[in-house]
Order: sequence, then C-alpha cells, then structure tokens
Amino acid sequence: MTRSTNPGAETAAPAAPTDPPAVRTEGLWKTYGKGDTAVHAVHDVTLRIDKGEFVALCGPSGSGKTTLVNLVGGLTDPTKGKVWVEEEEVGGLSERKRARLRLDRIGFVFQSYNLLPVLSALENAEFPLMLRGADRDARRKDVMELFEHIGLGGLEHRRPGELSGGQQQRVAVARAVLGAPALVLADEPTANLDTAASDALLEVMELLNEERGVTFIFCTHDPRVMRRARRIIRLVDGHVERDAEKEPGDLPGWVLEPVGT
Ligand SMILES: Nc1ncnc2c1ncn2[C@@H]1O[C@H](COP(=O)(O)OP(=O)(O)O)[C@@H](O)[C@H]1O
Ligand SMILES: [Mg+2]
Repeated sequence: MTRSTNPGAETAAPAAPTDPPAVRTEGLWKTYGKGDTAVHAVHDVTLRIDKGEFVALCGPSGSGKTTLVNLVGGLTDPTKGKVWVEEEEVGGLSERKRARLRLDRIGFVFQSYNLLPVLSALENAEFPLMLRGADRDARRKDVMELFEHIGLGGLEHRRPGELSGGQQQRVAVARAVLGAPALVLADEPTANLDTAASDALLEVMELLNEERGVTFIFCTHDPRVMRRARRIIRLVDGHVERDAEKEPGDLPGWVLEPVGT
C-alpha cells in the first residue's frame, strides 16, 4: 500500500491536542516519614506535559524537584496518586515492564551522574543503546559525533574517575539523549558547567526537541536553562506554585523572585 492510498496517513498529524500527553500526574504525593516528622516532598501535584514540550522545573533546594522527576521515571513509588508516561500508568507496571519503559522511552540525567566507574566515558554513554541492541559501529559513531560536539572529543577512553565533574556531567547527558528517547528527565544537567559547555549541551537538547520531538523536563536553578524553556513550573514545598508558558529567550521576573513574596 502506498502512502497516498493509506487512509491512516492523513490522520497522522503531529501533536494534536488530543494526542496522549508525554507525562500526566494526578493527585501525586510523596511523603517521607510519619506523624509530626512527615515531609511531603511532593504534595498533591496534578500536571500534564505534552509531547515535544521543553519544560524547566524550578524551585528552591528541597522543594521536591528531584522527587517529582524520580516519580515520573518510576524510580520511586508515590505515597498517593498516579503517573502516566504516554498513557502507560507507571505504578501499574511490573518491575520488568517498568525497566523496559525506562530503557525504551526515557533518558535520565541524574544529579549525581550515576556513571559506572569501571567503564570508559564512551562505554557509559553508549550503554542504553547497547541494551537496546543498536549496532556497535553505528552507536560508536553516534557517541563520537556527540562527544565532539559537546567538548568531550578525545576523552572517550577515560574512566569517570579521570574526568572533571563537568565532563562527567556531559557524559551523563550524552547517555540520556543518545538514540533520542521520547522523554528526557534531567536533574540539574548544567549545574557544574561553564557557559560555553552549558550552551553546547542545551543546543544539542534543543535540536533533539525541535527535530525529533523529544520531550524535555529539566530540574534547574539555572537562568540559562530557564531562558530557553518554553514552560516553567515552580515548586514550593512540593506543590506547584506557578506554571506558565513563555517565549524561548525570555526570563520572566517571577522566576528569580524569592519564594513567598
Ligand atoms: N529518601 C528521602 N528520605 C527522606 N526525605 C527525603 C528523601 N528524599 C528527599 N527527601 C526530602 O524531600 C524534600 C524534597 O527533596 P528533593 O526532591 O531532593 O528536592 P529538590 O530536588 O528540589 O532539592 C526535602 O525536604 C528532602 O529532604
Ligand atoms: Mg534535587
């Protein structure tokens, strides 16, 4: 059947409002501890993030950013409420299916990088592609190209212990974005980078967002990231205090205002 005679082809329009969202949460809570000492790290969060969004999740330290992205990625279970990633209810999946969802559809950049110390930078970066069964030569070519672009050229064979914090962070970002997963969750991905390195990374992410429709959710305090985002969600004490769309390049005044004023 050719494309023109395939009735499905006409309805396959990009990102209609009726498309399933990339991420949805409903009445999400994560509480640590009990009674008087209980901490609601995430406090009744209901959100919808559509495919292809580029979202900055901001808020003071301890406001629940890391906990929220870990809930979305199924790395931790909610105390109450639900999370869907592309209509798949994460809490309803077996451990195996959850691992598969993460491998196939989600790229993570952890605040602590989580690189494997015995593997080289290249091996760390290609790890998810390898697990997905990508051809060795093709995946190495992709890694080398990306490394060159983000200032890691020539460092492929170093182990994480032989790299600076900023270099490790870039390896972690490379690992998360290679193969263009549907969703990238990045926890403070530019925290240890100078402006040039951070711009190079953000450009790679913007390109993936624009050309491949990858959805990005960043936890960040970094005005450079917030400026590029098209939506900013601010958490305070685990709750969404503000959620606003904006033009790329703009930095709304409220983003930098101290919380509670
Ligand atoms: N595993 C944990 N056990 C107990 N408390 C935690 C745990 N993880 C996070 N918290 C608490 O939850 C709150 C939110 O933390 P976190 O999500 O790391 O915030 P952020 O990433 O915005 O700095 C903080 O008060 C933190 O101390
Ligand atoms: Mg954090």
